[in-house]
Amino acid sequence: MLKAGNAILRRFTPEDLDGLFRCFSDPDATEFITDPVDRPEALEGVLEEFIHGHESGTALNWAVVEKGTGLYAGSVSLQEFSFHDGSAETAFELLTEHRGKGLMTSALSAAVEYGFDALGLHRIEARVAEGNRRAERLLYRVGFRLEGTLRDALLLHGAHRNVNVFGLLSSDAFPGRSRRRGPGRMPSPSDPG
Ligand SMILES: CC(C)(COP(=O)(O)OP(=O)(O)OC[C@H]1O[C@@H](n2cnc3c(N)ncnc32)[C@H](O)[C@@H]1OP(=O)(O)O)[C@@H](O)C(=O)NCCC(=O)NCCS
Repeated sequence: MLKAGNAILRRFTPEDLDGLFRCFSDPDATEFITDPVDRPEALEGVLEEFIHGHESGTALNWAVVEKGTGLYAGSVSLQEFSFHDGSAETAFELLTEHRGKGLMTSALSAAVEYGFDALGLHRIEARVAEGNRRAERLLYRVGFRLEGTLRDALLLHGAHRNVNVFGLLSSDAFPGRSRRRGPGRMPSPSDPG
């Protein structure tokens, strides 16, 4: 479990299917990500991967819950690990009713700090469909830099979209940088996160 600001990042459990479905069935939450799903069962496989990714070390997906209420608010991940390059990609989303409170700023900062300090990553990347202003504002707030644009890289809702690539290096100065820096290593099945 990770904590930052008003956010708690915990592992997914089977009970999170409802929260995941509310998010991925919402046309607003999925506008820049994917087509919305129309039934919870469509996400059962995804949830399985979210739960077991921590054990296999393939992808770390955390449920973001609001401190105080304990309500499911969304998720944040570190995934697409490259052991050779020391890199990973992050993705994140919030239910609409939990936006505008700084929850994901705290959650993404905690995930980034975990990636750099606990896992020893060198680089974390985010890929955002062009026009996703809230996601871009979030990334800038956490310290990511815009690095370039992949033209027509995403087929979304029937049309090709440009994708902006953001990156953050462990050596970058950014707001949430911790002074505590361990030796670092890539994820393993025994990780507590
Ligand atoms: C991307 C996304 C998570 C950003 O959500 P968000 O609510 O804007 O981000 P935060 O939780 O960090 O909240 C920040 C907002 O709350 C405000 N805020 C209020 N209290 C705050 C606090 N204590 N700390 C920081 N920000 C605070 C900020 O001003 C900011 O609003 P602004 O951008 O309009 O200025 C959300 O828009 C989303 O889920 N989008 C759909 C999924 C998606 O597109 N994901 C990206 C693909 S990888």
